[in-house]
Amino acid sequence: MKINILGTATTKFGELWDVSPREMAREAMSNALRESGLKPSQIDALFVGNMLSGILGNQANLASLIAEELGNPQIPAFRIEGACASGGLALHNAINSINAGQYKTVLVLGLEKMTDHSQEEITSALSAAGSDEERMSGLTFPGIYALMAQAYMQQYNVDEETLAAVSVKNHYHGSFNPKAQFQSPITVGDVMRSPKVADPLKLLDCSPVSDGASAVVISNDVSIKSKKPVTIIASEVATDTLGLYNRKSFTSLMSVVTASEKAYQATGLKPADIDVAEIHDCFSISEAIAVEDLGFAKRGEGAKDISEGKMTLFKGKTICNPSGGLKACGHPVGATGIKQIVEITEQLRGTAGKRQAVDAKIGLTHNVGGSGAVAAIHILKAGGGNS
Ligand code: COA
Repeated sequence: MKINILGTATTKFGELWDVSPREMAREAMSNALRESGLKPSQIDALFVGNMLSGILGNQANLASLIAEELGNPQIPAFRIEGACASGGLALHNAINSINAGQYKTVLVLGLEKMTDHSQEEITSALSAAGSDEERMSGLTFPGIYALMAQAYMQQYNVDEETLAAVSVKNHYHGSFNPKAQFQSPITVGDVMRSPKVADPLKLLDCSPVSDGASAVVISNDVSIKSKKPVTIIASEVATDTLGLYNRKSFTSLMSVVTASEKAYQATGLKPADIDVAEIHDCFSISEAIAVEDLGFAKRGEGAKDISEGKMTLFKGKTICNPSGGLKACGHPVGATGIKQIVEITEQLRGTAGKRQAVDAKIGLTHNVGGSGAVAAIHILKAGGGNS
C-alpha cells in the first residue's frame, strides 16, 4: 500500500479560548491545502476525526459543517468517532476509501474543542468512551490508567520516579515545539511533587485538556507531485473489550499488539526499523506499555528504557514522541491521531527544526481510544510511492 502525503498542518495546541472549532478547522485545512498546492475543488472527500462535538459542542453534524468551512460544501464528508483514536480511525477510513477506488485525493481533519467547558463536564464527556460498568463504579480515565500503572509497577517492580521519566522526556521534547501546549522542561522532582490525580498518577503524569486541529491531504494520484514526498505504507486498526476488567492483562493492550503486528507484517518491517514514533501517551504509564506492545522494548523494560534515554531525541535509537506527545504537546482528543501524522511527516521530510530526529527514514504512529478498546497504527516512509 502506498498513499502519498501531499500536505500537512496543525494549529497550536492548548487553551485556545478565542478560537472557534470552525476557525481551528479552517486554519489547519487551508495550511495543509496550501502545502499540497491543491484547491478545495480538487479534494474528492473529507474525513473528520472528532469525539466530543456532539456531547460538548451540541454539533452532531460536524462533517457537513467542516465541508462548508473547506469551501466545498457538496463534497462527500464523514465524521468518524473512536474516542481518542478518532483521528487515526478517520485516516484509516480515508485510506480505505482511496484503496477501494472510490476517491483519489482526500482531506483528513482531526478536531477537538475541550477547554471551553468545566473540568467536570470534560471528565464526564470523556468517560463516554468507557464501559458502563466502569462508569457506574465511578472510574474516570485517570483512574483506569492508574489501575494499569499499579499493575505494571507491581508486576515489574518499577517505581514512580521511573514512570515519571516518560513525562520528563516528553516535556523536554515539547520544549522544542512551538505548537506544543507546554513548552517548559520538567524534572522527575516536579512530577513527584505535582498533585495526585489517581494514585500513583499525578498531575504531571497526565495529558492535559486541550483544543486543536490538524489536517493532512493524502492521495494515490501519481500525477500530483510533492517536493518532499512521504508515503503511508501501512494502516491497521484493531479493537479489544471496552472495559479493562474484561481483559487478561492490565499491562499490555491487545488492540495495539494486533494492529502493530499486522502493520509490521504488511511492510516487512521490524520494530528495530522504526526510527521515530509518535506514541499515545495519554498518561505516563501508557507510553511505558506502548513501547513494549510495539516491540521497541522488552516486557517490563519500557519505563526503564525511557528513563535511560533510549527513546530521547539526540541520544536514543527509536525516538518516541519528538512532538512532546500528548503529555506536553497537548491532547485535543480527535485531533491527536492526525497531529501524530503531521509530526512524523515533518520528521521524515527533515523539516522538524530543533526537534529533528537524526536521519529519520521510517516512522510509526500509535493512536489509542479508551483504555485500549481501539488502536490505529500507521507506518510512514520517507520518499514517494506509486499507487
Ligand atoms: N500537564 C501539565 N500541566 C497541567 C496539566 C497537565 N496534564 N493539566 C493542567 N496543567 C496545569 C495548568 O496549565 C494549570 O497551570 P497554571 O496554574 O499555571 O495555569 C495547572 O496545571 C492547574 O490546571 P487545572 O486546569 O486546574 O488542572 P485540573 O486539576 O483541572 O486538571 C487534570 C488536571 C489532570 C485532571 C486534567 O488535565 C485531565 O483530566 N487530564 C486527563 C485528560 C484525559 O483523561 N484525556 C483522555 C485520556 S484517555
